[in-house]
Amino acid sequence: MATRTSAAQGILSADRADKRDEIIELLKTAYWMELETVMSYIANSVNPDGVRAQEIREALEEDIQEELGHAQQFANRIKELYGVVPGSLEFRAEQSYLQPPEEQTDLVHVIRGVIDAENGAIEHYNKVIEACDGADWVTQDMVIDILRDEEGHLRLFEGFLREYEAEGLA
Ligand SMILES: [Fe+2]
Ligand SMILES: [Fe+2]
Repeated sequence: MATRTSAAQGILSADRADKRDEIIELLKTAYWMELETVMSYIANSVNPDGVRAQEIREALEEDIQEELGHAQQFANRIKELYGVVPGSLEFRAEQSYLQPPEEQTDLVHVIRGVIDAENGAIEHYNKVIEACDGADWVTQDMVIDILRDEEGHLRLFEGFLREYEAEGLA
């Protein structure tokens, strides 16, 4: 789709249309991943029961706001690249590993699910950062910041898992 652009150079210029489209598609995927993570983290910040649940619930509650902020950043960048933020009918759920466990005291299930979600985000964002290299420094810079948040989330939940493993619970 040809968009009339006025930028003389950089990712917004007319001759970078193909690269823009490629990056917009990657950003749409990232946008959906963040929104699905928000849904999964809301559920898992409420469902868990038991004395050990509180720490996990609070950590997820904090992450919800960060992931929502990421979704908004991806949406804004899609628009800046002359794309259109997709409507909800285009959404397809993929986080099978973050569905509620059989028992709401099964925190290891939740911890492993979060680790899977964060790993998925880290993998995709590394791909976006590489696709932007030499072509779109602004998206690259934004996604590097977001990647750091996801690495922080992963590290926190790896720490939780380590404790469970040390106690023979995972
Ligand atoms: Fe995120
Ligand atoms: Fe995250």
